[in-house]
Amino acid sequence: VKVDPFDLVVFGGTGDLAYRKLFPALFRRFLDGQFSEPTRIIGASRHDYDGEAFRQTIAKALRQYAPEGTKGEAVDDFLRIVDYVSLDIGTDAGWDVLGMKFPENSTPIRAFYLATGPDRFGAISAQLAAYGLITPSSRIIVEKPIGRDAASAAKINDAIGAVFAESQIYRIDHYLGKETVQNLMALRFANALFEPLWNAAHIDHVEITVAEAIGVEGRGAYYESSGALRDMVQNHLLQLLCLVAMEPPASMEADAVRDEKLKVLKALAPIDASNAETLTVRGQYRAGASAAGAVPGYPEEVGNPATEIETFVALKVNVANWRWAGTPFYLRTGKRLPKRVSELIVSFRNVPHSIFGADVKILPTRLVVRLQPDEGIKLWLMLKEPGAGGMRMRHVPLDMNFAKAFKIYAPEAYERLLMDVIRGNATLFMRRDEVEAAWRWIDPIREAWNQSPLEPRFYLAGTWGPASATALVERDGRSWYEET
Ligand code: BG6
Repeated sequence: VKVDPFDLVVFGGTGDLAYRKLFPALFRRFLDGQFSEPTRIIGASRHDYDGEAFRQTIAKALRQYAPEGTKGEAVDDFLRIVDYVSLDIGTDAGWDVLGMKFPENSTPIRAFYLATGPDRFGAISAQLAAYGLITPSSRIIVEKPIGRDAASAAKINDAIGAVFAESQIYRIDHYLGKETVQNLMALRFANALFEPLWNAAHIDHVEITVAEAIGVEGRGAYYESSGALRDMVQNHLLQLLCLVAMEPPASMEADAVRDEKLKVLKALAPIDASNAETLTVRGQYRAGASAAGAVPGYPEEVGNPATEIETFVALKVNVANWRWAGTPFYLRTGKRLPKRVSELIVSFRNVPHSIFGADVKILPTRLVVRLQPDEGIKLWLMLKEPGAGGMRMRHVPLDMNFAKAFKIYAPEAYERLLMDVIRGNATLFMRRDEVEAAWRWIDPIREAWNQSPLEPRFYLAGTWGPASATALVERDGRSWYEET
């Protein structure tokens, strides 16, 4: 379905995110015929390019990051709608040139994507206002990290909020744009089977794993000021937790969904210096073997032998409300783990009594939602093995693989999210109060770690994190889900 014509200005237009994700995503939507004329995409950054030089860099990026679409005239056709303005965020240089791109009668949907560091969000917003570039139907898109704690997040939100209304602000968490993450809502709220059982009476525990095989990939400077808790847990993992734990919203309307997610964030039992030692594990990878061969440890990678930044986090989280009291959520994420896999596992309570005798071990029903890669859903059930030799039982999955089942192209997160911005649909974006509530829960964990004499535990690259992460769940008589 086509979207209305729009103008999109990408600040940080010559940055990594723009080249690797944003322009390839826009290109794919363009190829799919989703744009209407006269749509324009304007890169903006300090680089002293002219339009033609910038378009050449985009052409190169598309050949690298969206090669499947770059045959024939496609790239040239796309580049016809791409323009560039060289400007300096901190001064007035170039802003009048940007202003001239928007004559009185230009298309009403005007979107500003801030693919820059968060320290620039306030200055860009102020300049947009000063140059009269914001119209009532303008919208602004910002990327994580929104701050590094609750106080800095509030400051950034204040600065953007000084010139944009909350309804004009789209805060991206690209995990919400992933197909299977959206499917979580379909699974829960479009099937009568699960929701009656979706509570502590029937669910024993929930696991959320977001594992990466890569290290910090040249982002050492950013990562040294962040760490896995800020980089992944505050946003992606907590958002996933919210979608699993929230009450059914009355509709898919943005605020209906966001109100429910906010309630979950507010219900998270605090983790602070009093309990961090039992509820959290932080780790840091050391030189080891990855699938790609030998890799250096984190301290060598960032050139800081004394670094205490965590590259792995495991948490036991309690959602202190009526629905979830007594059902822990185990979260873990890390870099340089054995493989890239994001998974959500819902383990149901076991049957109260076995009629099959002591020889038959009955394993609990498990729902596994594989978010990436090989997106799919598995429901593990106990079933009888075929044969006349008695009641031999096995734990086997009902197995649904999205690629096989649908055989259609699944758009990348940014494709979906960018088009949602143009359509004005904010359901998959974070509201200010959500972001700040998430930080308020994260901050005391960070503080507890800062005060603790304990350093992050080491783990070898290519393993599943420190041994204490295994102990975190084994202490409760459970274990992390392992694909069998
Ligand atoms: C980003 C983090 O938000 O998400 C990165 O900053 C991480 O450190 C990335 O690698 C993971 O995203 P995906 O889509 O590859 O799972």
